[in-house]
Amino acid sequence: MFKKIVGGVVALSVLALAIFLLIAWEPSIDPISTPNPGGFSEEQINRGEVLAGLGNCETCHTTAPNKPLAGGRAMPTPFGTLYSTNITPDPKTGIGQWSEEAFARAMREGITQSGSHLFPAFPYTHFTKLSDDDTSDLYAYIMSQSAIQAEPPENTLEFPFNIRLLLAGWKLLFFDEGRYETETSKSEEWNRGAYIAEGAGHCSACHTPRNVLGAEDTSKAWEGAIINNWYAPALNTSNRTPAGWTETEAYKYLRNGGSPFHGVAVGSMADVVHDGLKQAPDSDLRALSVWLSDLAQASGDQQASANSVSAIHSAHNNQSPSTMMGEGERLFTYACAACHYNEPDSTNTLRPDMALNSAISAPTPINLIRVTLNGVSLKEGLPEAMMPGFAHALDDRQIASLLAYLRSTHTDQPAWTNLEQQVRDQRP
Ligand code: HEC
Ligand code: HEC
Ligand code: HEC
Repeated sequence: MFKKIVGGVVALSVLALAIFLLIAWEPSIDPISTPNPGGFSEEQINRGEVLAGLGNCETCHTTAPNKPLAGGRAMPTPFGTLYSTNITPDPKTGIGQWSEEAFARAMREGITQSGSHLFPAFPYTHFTKLSDDDTSDLYAYIMSQSAIQAEPPENTLEFPFNIRLLLAGWKLLFFDEGRYETETSKSEEWNRGAYIAEGAGHCSACHTPRNVLGAEDTSKAWEGAIINNWYAPALNTSNRTPAGWTETEAYKYLRNGGSPFHGVAVGSMADVVHDGLKQAPDSDLRALSVWLSDLAQASGDQQASANSVSAIHSAHNNQSPSTMMGEGERLFTYACAACHYNEPDSTNTLRPDMALNSAISAPTPINLIRVTLNGVSLKEGLPEAMMPGFAHALDDRQIASLLAYLRSTHTDQPAWTNLEQQVRDQRP
């Protein structure tokens, strides 16, 4: 009897393993000799370049500016470090021997030319939504770039996360392969925006929190998440900024890197705006803005909302130093207010209004701490503007009291906890 049960369990396990291996196993696609870039039309390559920008291929696949797409960028995960691969057309170390079919399979199913499963740090969970034409244009663009010989460092993922076959199980749970499906109740422009956001732009890869296995938690879609040690704010109605993300403001932010009623794009979002969206035509950014303002359910007079929140804190800004109470308030007046002060009705992108900025109303102070410590470089925010960092001018306790002051006077959100420790943790 006992023998029979054990036998049954063993047989079932072997069967389950066999089924799993059958699902997990993928064939290799025959290598080709590297395509001649002359074989692609210039229009196709140009369209591919815009898509590569939207997809931030270069941001993730480049470590040195003189070796674009040659890979090697470290992607720290809770399970170890993964490195991006060389996607230049180099036949040995890059993807020069990948046919268009192999490339399309990688983009859509996360499988290499030889049949291994790819980690979802490569956002194929989004790229799978790209149309046939767009995938083909991307291939043309990638295959027309200079071939660079470069081998990325070995991944340092811990067992069992280093077993690529197991990714087949991850995919069964969390991955839906398939092209973008038009939402018929919405306009064509909205659909274009959603197609870019969900597909090439992979916006939710940063703006949606992930579960313990690294998959986007769809029950919390667009609710904001911490990524690369920056906070990517909620883009839906949970966004706490007082003036919502209307179509006009979203467009200004995505096109130029800043909106007077919000603030500027720093950190990873600066890469998205200044490297990624730079080549995209206006029509695409307008479409993204239509989609975004619908997601945020934003409308109304931005200047009026700005004036009403500014009125609350301008009372603080106008006090004379002798009547100021706390250290935070004094520090803000001396260190920040000269640049961060707006007259009513003249809200200015060059002087982000603290009461309107998501960094101050966000659930985590990470962005505010990082901007206060390191400032805003010329590569971030508005390209013509910068902000000095205060890492050397102020100590942890001073920054903590300054930021606590901003939080309590410029928002109606609960105080942040452990601020001083959090400032210390963010010191470069
Ligand atoms: C968020 C970072 C990120 C972005 C953005 C990104 N990739 Fe990747 N990509 C990776 C990582 C990491 C890998 C390696 C995954 C692995 O080893 O399993 C990878 C692997 C690949 C591969 C498989 C290559 C191989 O040799 O196995 C291809 C093809 C690829 N990416 C193309 C692209 C293209 C095209 C774009 C832009 C449309 C892009 N990637 C954008 C991170 C990224
Ligand atoms: C690589 C990660 C990443 C990707 C991809 C990304 N974002 Fe962001 N996003 C961020 C971060 C981080 C911030 C916060 C930047 C700041 O505070 O200036 C941000 C901020 C924003 C904001 C401002 C929110 C606010 O309330 O201040 C908007 C709007 C936005 N992103 C839209 C988008 C759209 C649309 C896309 C896709 C085209 C996108 N993001 C893709 C990381 C990302
Ligand atoms: C010399 C002028 C100047 C001073 C002083 C200054 N800032 Fe700024 N700050 C700026 C400018 C300009 C920007 C926008 C930069 C850009 O667009 O590139 C900015 C941006 C910001 C942002 C917006 C970041 C975002 O994601 O939207 C915050 C927050 C901020 N500053 C906080 C502070 C704090 C706190 C202080 C005082 C400790 C301070 N600033 C002092 C000029 C200044």
